[in-house]
Amino acid sequence: MAAATMPPAALLSELEPDVARLLERHLIQAKEWFPHQLVPYSQGQDFDEGYEWSPEETELPDTVRSALFVNLLTEDNLPYYFRAIEATFGRHEAWGEWNRRWTAEEGRHSIVIRDYLTVTRAVDPVALERARMAQVSTGQVPEPELPHDVLVYVALQELATRIAHHNTGKLIDGVGYEVMKRVASDENRHHLFYRDLAAAALELDPSGMVLAIERQVRDFEMPGTGIVDFETHARAIAKAGIYDFTIHHGQILVPVVLRHWGVEDVTGLSDEAEEARDALLTRIDRIGKAGRRQARKRLEAEAALVDRVPEPV
Ligand SMILES: [Fe+2]
Ligand SMILES: [Fe+2]
Repeated sequence: MAAATMPPAALLSELEPDVARLLERHLIQAKEWFPHQLVPYSQGQDFDEGYEWSPEETELPDTVRSALFVNLLTEDNLPYYFRAIEATFGRHEAWGEWNRRWTAEEGRHSIVIRDYLTVTRAVDPVALERARMAQVSTGQVPEPELPHDVLVYVALQELATRIAHHNTGKLIDGVGYEVMKRVASDENRHHLFYRDLAAAALELDPSGMVLAIERQVRDFEMPGTGIVDFETHARAIAKAGIYDFTIHHGQILVPVVLRHWGVEDVTGLSDEAEEARDALLTRIDRIGKAGRRQARKRLEAEAALVDRVPEPV
């Protein structure tokens, strides 16, 4: 087991008042919304017997379809995220209350995205259902051992999900955009809850949290890992600019890890945590460089494509 400066039980009990405070803030800020109001049911029709989906049914490019597919399957894995969070944080007091409320909110996400995709026939419903069966039957989600790591992971993951949903929405029509934007705004509030809870944990156990941040940034994988053909989908998603290294660096690591958590300025670290912080800062810098390389390559590929378009006569 990874070393923690503060034992897990002590951290959880010391953080409980912060959970209660942040849950209250969340409940004040959360807005009630209804999936059925966002789905364009008038566009739908029954699926005939023997129906076979073809890409001509939709105008969405496969990059965007990949993103919708991955985003929805990630939402479908909710039972296992719930399990992991309950196993770490427990079911009692504000921790349990938060997890149950969070689960109820998350449940809406797969409802609204699936209904939207089914009605608009944007993806193959058979492939989607088979992938859901495969994904949920496997039941794999990251399950870090320490609460420190779980806090960091969920803070980063909720933000990554918010960005992926919102960027996907920007590439589809107005109705689809509204669906993805609404889901993204829930994810944003979830992120803020965990981001601020992790900040409180950093004050209670700076060394334990810095070690956890280093581990989680090192191991971070975009939401959706474990989905059938994930590598192919992830490439498509990066190609469409929905989620890539530039975004991971500029919209997650810099604003959250460096700016909000201020890891560079944390004091009173153990030797081991000091070393972890150095490794973390080097890694963040390297991810930024990889992002710039990826962006340059994309621009070059786009320029090459423009070169191939014949000049108008
Ligand atoms: Fe969600
Ligand atoms: Fe969320």
